[in-house]
Amino acid sequence: MGIKYYLDNKALYVSTIIKKFEYAFWKAVNYASARWWDVKMGKGCRFIGKTHFVRLQESNITIGDNCRFNSTHTSNLSGLFAPCIITTAKKEAKLTIGKGCGFSGTRIRCGKSITLGDNVRCGANSYIADTDAHSDDYRAGLDRPVVIEDNVWLGMNVVVLKGVHIGKNSLIGANSVVTKDIPANSVAVGSPAKVIKTLEVKE
Ligand SMILES: CC(C)(COP(=O)(O)OP(=O)(O)OC[C@H]1O[C@@H](n2cnc3c(N)ncnc32)[C@H](O)[C@@H]1OP(=O)(O)O)[C@@H](O)C(=O)NCCC(=O)NCCS
Repeated sequence: MGIKYYLDNKALYVSTIIKKFEYAFWKAVNYASARWWDVKMGKGCRFIGKTHFVRLQESNITIGDNCRFNSTHTSNLSGLFAPCIITTAKKEAKLTIGKGCGFSGTRIRCGKSITLGDNVRCGANSYIADTDAHSDDYRAGLDRPVVIEDNVWLGMNVVVLKGVHIGKNSLIGANSVVTKDIPANSVAVGSPAKVIKTLEVKE
């Protein structure tokens, strides 16, 4: 019960108060930005740092309740290279994110259709796209929809490319590149990601 104990407690108390202000500040900034871009945001979403929303006219972005967006370098202690960027790149693109999802420096680029279920965890610096983006270049493939079902966990630096469907509860290992469908309840790793394990999931 010395002075160090007293100072530690004081520091904890002060940092808790600062965190509360920080959350409130980023919530106000990010909800205002979502409103500006006409992104349909659910209730109770939490933010650290500024998420970049960019919605092209005539496209659609819907985000469910209680999602969390980490967008500063240290808001996820794996270390983030960039803020979250949530964007529709083409007219009539449809990006739908379910409830309770988490994003850490995640970039989502939607040219056609990307659907995330509920409680999808996207690890540090993950990237999800249904488009090769450079549509003026003959080497780019066609846009193809991406579906990521409930409770999927993408490890850090995972890349999910166009046309992929990941079944519920699956886990994609760190640094993997997902180019083909992954069935539900699987652990998949590598580039291209291959299933190495099937999980026993209690429903
Ligand atoms: C996929 C993962 C969960 C597997 O963990 P595990 O069930 O304990 O499995 P193991 O470590 O025993 O690995 C099983 C095999 O897969 C390989 N492997 C594991 N993760 C791999 C990866 N990301 N890429 C390539 N191969 C991988 C291992 O080398 C091992 O191969 P082997 O059977 O030939 O020896 C884990 O390695 C992983 O990538 N976790 C993600 C962590 C993360 O990104 N967290 C988010 C931070 S923001």
